Order: sequence, then C-alpha cells, then structure tokens
Amino acid sequence: QNAWKLADHPKLPKGKTVAMVVLDGWGEAKPDQYNCIHVAHTPTMDSFKTTAPEKWRLIKAHGTAVGLPSEDDMGNSEVGHNALGAGRIFAQGAKLVDLALASGKIYDGEGFKYIKECFDNGTLHLIGLLSDGGVHSRLDQLQLLLKGAVDNGAKRIRVHILTDGRDVLDGSSIGFVETLEKDLSNLREKGYDAHIASGGGRMYVTMDRYENDWDVVKRGWDAQVLGEAPYKFRNAVEAVKKLREEPKANDQYLPPFVIVDESGNPVGPIKDGDAVVTFNFRADRMVMLAKALEYEDFDKFDRVRVPKVHYAGMLQYDGELKLPGHYLVSPPEIDRTSGEYLVHNGVRTFACSETVKFGHVTFFWNGNRSGYFNQEMEEYVEIPSDVGITFNVQPKMKAKEIAEKARDAILSGKFDQVRVNLPNGDMVGHTGDIEATIVACKVTDDAVKMIIDAIEQVGGIFVITADHGNAEDMVKRDKSGKPLLDKNGNLQILTSHTLQPVPIAIGGPGLAPGARFRNDVPTGGLANVAATVMNLHGFEAPTDYEPTLIEVVDN
Ligand code: 3PG
Ligand code: CO
Repeated sequence: QNAWKLADHPKLPKGKTVAMVVLDGWGEAKPDQYNCIHVAHTPTMDSFKTTAPEKWRLIKAHGTAVGLPSEDDMGNSEVGHNALGAGRIFAQGAKLVDLALASGKIYDGEGFKYIKECFDNGTLHLIGLLSDGGVHSRLDQLQLLLKGAVDNGAKRIRVHILTDGRDVLDGSSIGFVETLEKDLSNLREKGYDAHIASGGGRMYVTMDRYENDWDVVKRGWDAQVLGEAPYKFRNAVEAVKKLREEPKANDQYLPPFVIVDESGNPVGPIKDGDAVVTFNFRADRMVMLAKALEYEDFDKFDRVRVPKVHYAGMLQYDGELKLPGHYLVSPPEIDRTSGEYLVHNGVRTFACSETVKFGHVTFFWNGNRSGYFNQEMEEYVEIPSDVGITFNVQPKMKAKEIAEKARDAILSGKFDQVRVNLPNGDMVGHTGDIEATIVACKVTDDAVKMIIDAIEQVGGIFVITADHGNAEDMVKRDKSGKPLLDKNGNLQILTSHTLQPVPIAIGGPGLAPGARFRNDVPTGGLANVAATVMNLHGFEAPTDYEPTLIEVVDN
C-alpha cells in the first residue's frame, strides 16, 4: 500500500479545477476609517460574505493556532503558509528557540559548540533584527543568548543590528537600541568587550528576501564584514536618532552605519577566526546572508574579503540546501505537506506570486522546502517584483499580472490546483500609508474577480483566504479599540500585522450543491484549510491533519 495514497472522498468528485487564493495581510476587523479593506471598494470579497454566508467564515491566523508561543503573537506569512500547506500545527521557530534557551539545551548543541571554538581567540558577532516583533527574531532571545555566550566563555562580542519598524511601531528602534546598549554596558562593567558594531534598517540593509535585490545584502556585508558604511558614529543610539532625522527616514529604511572608535576605526568588522551567529529564527530574510557567509562560489556581489569564520544560524534556514550547515536550534520538521500528498495523488499544481511573496506560496507552503516535488506535475511561476521602491508608491504591485497568470493556468486545463498569493494588502500595509493601502485592497479585489471569473468558465471551485491580518487595521489602539496618539498628538500608525482572524470563502460552479462550512469546528484556523482543499479535490485528508472545515449535506 502506497503511504501517499489518499482515500476517495465519499461525496465530493475529483477533477475539478480548484483556485487557492491567499490574500496576504487581509484580516477581518470592525469597519472604521483605518480599516483599509472596509474603506476600499471591494465588491467581490464583500459578496462572498453577503450572498453565501454558509460558504464564508472566519478562521484563526495568529498565536497557538499557527504554532506561535502565545495568543499575543500576531500571525505572519511564514507560519501562516506553513499551516495552510501542512494541515497541521507545528511548534514554530520562535517557540523552539524559547524552549532551547529555557532548558539551556541550546548551549549543548553542535551549533553552539562550533561557534564556541572561536571564543578564546576571536570575536563573537551577532547579526539580526532588533525588536520584540516575534516574527523574525526577539530581543529577549538575543539578551538570553548574550548572557549564555559570556557564561560559556565569550569575551569579545559585537552586535550588528537591523532596525525594525515593520513588525513593531516605527520609532521603537530607539528604545530597543537603548535596551541593548544598557545590556552591553553592563557586560563591559564586568570586564567583557561588548559593543554594537554596525546597523541599518531591515528593508535597506541585509534583510532582503527571495533574491529580490542583492544590493540590500551587500550594504549589510560592507558594514558588518568590511566595516564600511556611508555613516560613522561613536554610539548606536545617537546613530539611530540622527539617521531618523533625515527626510522620509524611518526604522525600516535607515541607511547602513558603522560604529567607530576614537581614532575613527570601525569597532567590529568580521575577521578570520571570529564566530558569527545570525539570530533571526525565520528563514526568508536571512538565507541570502547565509549564502554570502557560507558559499565558496558566490557571484551575487563582490564580497572583497571573505573572512574564515565559524558561522551558525539561530535555525537552519533551508533544510534542502542545508543552509547554514551549523545552527543553534533545529527547525520544525514539517513533513507530509498537502502539496506533496496531492502531487502523489495526481493533482497537477500551478503556483504563482511576485518575487516578494513567491517563496511564501512555494517554499513555506511546502514546509520550508525549495523546488518541486515532481516537476512533471507542477509549475511554479515567479513574476519579478519592482525593485528599489517602497510599495506605497506602487500599490498595484503585480496583482493584475499574478491574476492573469492564474486565469491562464485555469483556462489552460493543464492544472487541477492553481495557487496564488496576492501580496498587496500586506506589502503596502507594512508601509503604513493608509491611502496607498486602500488602493492595494481594491486592486486585490479586482484580481480575485479575475480569478473567480476564470473558475466560473471552467466549472471549477475557488477557495479564497488570507495568511494573517494587516490592511484591516492601520492604527495602534487601546484596549477599547480607540486609536492611540503619540506624545505629539499624531496617530500611531500600525505598520505590522494584527491578531485578527481572516476570512475564508468557498464557491464556484464546481462546488457540490450541499457543500458548506461545518458548525462544529468553531475554533478552526489556517491549519484546517489543507484538509478542506484536499476534500475539494475529491480526497479525504490524512487522519492526523486538522479537521476539514466543510461538510456535504444532501439536498
Ligand atoms: C516581513 O518580513 O516583511 C515582515 O516582517 C512580515 O511579513 P510577512 O510575514 O507577511 O512576510
Ligand atoms: Co507582512
């Protein structure tokens, strides 16, 4: 018996084309003027809720429902797409690192032992996102790691910070740098040589993703490894405060800077014999630097000098590429994803997004695995994203192009599942530009319309959902929901994701007449979607998958 063989669904037929549409950053929240989805003209998305309420519901997209440590953790695309694709809830990087730090096991692991070999003669460099956002990294984990490093013999430490303002409020970077500075100065009082060595905004320095723009990684390399940057400061708090004063400057886009000593020399370039840890647990925005640090043959930019270091990631960022080779905590082992099952059961799949979200609907969807399961059954199409702009100036992004590709794939008859991610709500939402985000939501709705029109033509089925909230709430609020003002009386703009649930709608002419959402899975979340989609392809889901959201009643 083939372990991959799925049982036939007792009531639902095979062979229907299923469009699986993920709206990135599209949650459900109370209607008000800061809910861009509400303000935008979105007749298609609205119609699902109003015309077929038994085929529309909300599902959880944050906290423990997606494997995050607590209910205070907002959802994000990594854990969201993992849950959507894998059909089960896995303890995610944030949680696994918490556990390894709490038990101290992190210090007994192979990865830590490897970097520790450099502690006697070299410097320990820690590179990562400095905030408590909990999406890519967490400040409290960095603090524990610093303590653990000195307890285990590190004497000279340099931290290379990336300021956030995307998973947390813009401007909060100053407080995080102050906190870190205080910790480092406490270490200095105890005789350790510990300093911040360089920095820059996450969207401009180091944390690009999916090879959208290698210049971002190069700017980081120059500052972190070579000790070269356009701005030099004696002190990181001063650096962040000063650079934020530039017109249009914000935490996400701070230019790169290095910290220099009294003679003007950088305090912490990375040298032969040093140890390096990238302390982000999330892969997508660290794997490019991992490549630059680890690959011997590397031609994405001129590294000038390649230091011989012992490098470890907080996690291994790509299990297929084994990158990096050394890591402090083992990543979640997300196996037997719905994509792999469906391919084994004859479901031909098309997946598409633009660069900035391409890996979400392929790599994350497939359990952090790059490439195809079976190239003959699958086609993944990446539409190049605009490079070097913030998406509020181009809120339409490539939504139309993605929808056209999906439409063509649906009409071609070559695929059983056509899966896309529409990035606009999220990518424009992260800029904090409310007007632009309203445009982003409208464009997304237009794209959904194009896709369901194609499904209509081929007699198929659509599933429209989202990976987490973002565009539905653009302001920070107090407990009662009232928008909060900062000390100057300005609205506090929320650039981050939210804790909101997301909608899921099913429909299309191919949907069996009695198919509708069940009422007995009230706490359903993103992980329940995989079984649902398997059903719509005519299969029962594996028994250990989270239960399907649908039932078929006899009419
Ligand atoms: C980012 O990496 O852009 C944000 O930190 C999280 O956004 P995403 O989870 O939607 O990718
Ligand atoms: Co996002």
